[in-house]
Amino acid sequence: MPRFDDYFLDELTNKADIVDIVSRYVSLNRKGDRYWGLCPFHGEKTASFSVVPDKQFYYCFGCGKGGGVINFVMDVEHLEFADAVEHLAGLCNMEVPDAGNKKVGDYKKRLCEMNAEAARFFHAKLKEPVGAGAVEYIKKRRLSPSTVTRFGLGYAPPGWNNLSDYLRKKGYTNAEMIEAGLVRKSERGVYDVFRDRLMFPIIDHRGNVLAFGGRVMQGDGNGQKYINTGNTPIYSKKNTLYAYNIAKKTAEKQMILVEGYMDAVSLHQAGFTNTVASLGTALTEEHAKLLSRTVNEVVIAYDTDKAGTAATERAIGVFGENGISIRILRVPGGKDPDEFIKLNGPDEFRRVLAGAEQQMDYRLAAAKNGIDLKSDDGRIAYLKAAGKLLSELTSRIELEVYAGRVAEETGVSRETVITEADRIRKSAFAAEKKKRHVTDINPERAVQPPRESGVRYADPVKARFEEELLSFLFTYPELCEKAGELVKTEDFTSPELGRIYGTLISRTEKGESTDTTALSALLSPEDMRLMGKLLAADRPHSGTEKELSDICGKIGNKPGDSGDPLMDIRNRKRNMSGTKGVY
Ligand code: CTP
Ligand code: MN
Repeated sequence: MPRFDDYFLDELTNKADIVDIVSRYVSLNRKGDRYWGLCPFHGEKTASFSVVPDKQFYYCFGCGKGGGVINFVMDVEHLEFADAVEHLAGLCNMEVPDAGNKKVGDYKKRLCEMNAEAARFFHAKLKEPVGAGAVEYIKKRRLSPSTVTRFGLGYAPPGWNNLSDYLRKKGYTNAEMIEAGLVRKSERGVYDVFRDRLMFPIIDHRGNVLAFGGRVMQGDGNGQKYINTGNTPIYSKKNTLYAYNIAKKTAEKQMILVEGYMDAVSLHQAGFTNTVASLGTALTEEHAKLLSRTVNEVVIAYDTDKAGTAATERAIGVFGENGISIRILRVPGGKDPDEFIKLNGPDEFRRVLAGAEQQMDYRLAAAKNGIDLKSDDGRIAYLKAAGKLLSELTSRIELEVYAGRVAEETGVSRETVITEADRIRKSAFAAEKKKRHVTDINPERAVQPPRESGVRYADPVKARFEEELLSFLFTYPELCEKAGELVKTEDFTSPELGRIYGTLISRTEKGESTDTTALSALLSPEDMRLMGKLLAADRPHSGTEKELSDICGKIGNKPGDSGDPLMDIRNRKRNMSGTKGVY
């Protein structure tokens, strides 16, 4: 059934935020961890339609419709899966891969494999005589051997054809090498792009090697300090964060965002494994969405130079729209994080990290820059700028606190500052409302009566534990593998729940993503609806392995379990039919 490859669906998931998409049809209000609105699928006066941004799904407690963003488009636009994907891609300005073209996916996979081969080639060179200089450089930058291994660093030797000759022997064509940005064409054939450089492979969250950065080893290379793979069929800078493949596993609730390869590698080595780098490019909305899947706070630790400060301002804007809270770390002494940590050690960095400013402190300080608060004009200019910043605060308490600070600095009363901020907020809100175009819901569709959605379980008692296991795994997907060892799909009494479980486990085993979009390509809309219901239920779990094995212990349907032999035989029959057709 899946016509779209994982790469495409992943990119679509990244772009198509469910809150954005649903907001085009329903006006939503945030309460706690989710949004609420009037259900577009049945007439109602109080909101029972919910959207949970963290898990990217919706569920209506009134009529039971639910699922991922693609299911929403299917439901609201009355489309089949493939058409809904196309429609959604259109809304996000994305090109849809050719219909029925599985080859695209295979081709991308091949480019990734070739890149992995190239990474191994570079890495192996560190152990050969030709790599002695690179090993020396790595020592000079104080990177340990295990850091080198963890990041798969390597060395591209001098000479024009080392890599291309090697890859050709492995069966790759010039055309493929050119596509992946590893070689370039000249009149006399092809030549390697990366020569005599320390190599940093750029790896995505699935472990695919997408691209490379290569650093010169003498000085700063006259503007050619780094050479990076440009955009290719498998790599786009705007979707990728360096070291995210490792950092996404962090248990921390915050991510540290730095500019450069070396900053990320150094911080990881010093124990800050929750670090990613945007690689000198402007932070994009796609980056922010990627981060918002794992954490709800980002500490921006960009360089303190002019470019870094401008990049920080831009990043604040991007994160603001994604509901991630931000703190800004200004590394003392004009150093970048890599230099700082080498000079002062991890503990000192941890101290600076703890003191990282809330974004409002940082922005107020920036707004004050170059303004003379002793002059009337200066105070007015600062009050205006500060009023605008404060108008963005959603918390009344924070507003009070910061307004108090601005009041003190300018000698104006706190109330005046608050009034100014409120005024700006109201006029911005009115402008936004005018601008925003909310698609009207077709009234005929809206009055459809709620459809009975509940699945009838043959064995409600057992199904309850099965439901519990699934809802546990949605919250703690990292334990899917463990669950797979404890409970088999055949152990499920409910075929519906078994199908969802089977899909979850088999994708985990293959190292594939289990987010709602990927699942909606494999499961029927009915199964997705059931999944929405489980996700919405929000059961409290602590996410320990012990808890997992407790839940798993209640599942399993060995004969005699129910104490009723007849029921056991019925159950076993059901199991058999339930496991059929998971794929
Ligand atoms: N960058 C680049 N090309 C350059 C300079 C910078 O692509 N010529 C990108 C790289 O991703 C680099 C990031 O911008 O990691 C930050 O640049 P910079 O601060 O100059 O480099 P560092 O990461 O500090 O690298 P190093 O410590 O090795 O000098
Ligand atoms: Mn540096």
